[in-house]
Amino acid sequence: MEKLIVGNWKMQKLFSDIHPYFKVFKHKMALKNIQLALAVPSIFIKPCLEEMINTPFILGAQDVSEYEEGAYTGEVSAVQLASMPVTFSLVGHSERRQYFHETSAIVLKKAQRLQAQGLFAILCVGETLEQKKDFKKIIQEQLKGVFTLNPAHLVVAYEPVWAIGTGQTATLEDIKQAHLYIKSFLSEGSRNFSSVKVLYGGSVNESNASSILSLDEVGGLLIGGASLNPSGFEKLIEGLGPNL
Ligand code: 13P
Repeated sequence: MEKLIVGNWKMQKLFSDIHPYFKVFKHKMALKNIQLALAVPSIFIKPCLEEMINTPFILGAQDVSEYEEGAYTGEVSAVQLASMPVTFSLVGHSERRQYFHETSAIVLKKAQRLQAQGLFAILCVGETLEQKKDFKKIIQEQLKGVFTLNPAHLVVAYEPVWAIGTGQTATLEDIKQAHLYIKSFLSEGSRNFSSVKVLYGGSVNESNASSILSLDEVGGLLIGGASLNPSGFEKLIEGLGPNL
């Protein structure tokens, strides 16, 4: 199965970084069974689309409004995203849940808005350190309502909060257990959901990416810090090849 590698720039990078970033990827990369994607700040979608021609990336946003359209200053709607050649958006990233108090109901609404426009929703879930022993309960709550979504346009990303930006990657066993749980939860609800890809994110880097991705349950990676430096990201991706 093709694996999906998504870089998440978060609130980083400047307009002037975009050209040099994609220049690094404008050579023929030996990608087998890998789809590359970037989630960029919405303000950079247009310049990224222009600069990423002849690179292997698809493009997406990091968030979307729960509202359809109207007087919501500062928000970007799914309709607006879909009016550009954008493929997906992240929803429910732990930084949104934590700092912007997004509930699972809001996250679900956002995913529904995206799918109504034919876009993919990458729905992020993951427990904090305090919740680690109850991770199943937490993930189940974060996936509430998931079966109202279209599985054909859905990706789930498991990102344990304690592993994000901390350098403390989850162990392969932790990742395997969480992914097995998510996969079984999804397939219990509806058989159509058993093919939904589940990505891992949290301190993925050049030295651990390949072993994480070689787990059968892992459908791809969601990478923050290690996607920011284009040469480093390119080396990380090239290093995945042999294990797929
Ligand atoms: P890091 O790879 O920097 O830990 O971030 C993970 C993440 O939050 C990606 O969405």
